[in-house]
Amino acid sequence: MRQEIKFNLNSETIALEVNPNEVLLEVLRDKIGVKSPKCGCDNGDCGTCTVMINGKTVRSCLVLGIEVDGQEVVTLEGLMDSGLTSLQKSFIEHNSFQCGFCAPGMILSATELLAENQKPNKEEIQEALSGNLCRCTGYTPIIEAIEAITK
Ligand code: FES
Ligand code: FES
Repeated sequence: MRQEIKFNLNSETIALEVNPNEVLLEVLRDKIGVKSPKCGCDNGDCGTCTVMINGKTVRSCLVLGIEVDGQEVVTLEGLMDSGLTSLQKSFIEHNSFQCGFCAPGMILSATELLAENQKPNKEEIQEALSGNLCRCTGYTPIIEAIEAITK
């Protein structure tokens, strides 16, 4: 039986009906049209579907849509009210993307880290990104981009 949910998405109120077994990733991409969260593994392993719920990153392929009823959800689009963030600019300056599939999840995980720790060391950055896989870059330019804005 479909269920109505209402939640805040990137500072907008969203109300819609979902099936009880529909995951948040499907709700965002297929029902609302928010495309930054990607489906890499559909199994909680790759981090490409990362979004924030109440300021904490989650894997949206593992969260049911009904679970965000009354919650605040932020995707990469929600960080960009004033254009690219300094973190995004640093990723571009350091050539931290190749295909870019991992990028939204990487940026959100790094954003969460920097909100809690403005001067993370390399190990802390690696730990924060440990749930976000990148098949292209070898991670070095990603870590360098984050280090650059903490100096
Ligand atoms: S698609 Fe969700 S962790 Fe890979
Ligand atoms: S840039 Fe291709 S997966 Fe990270």
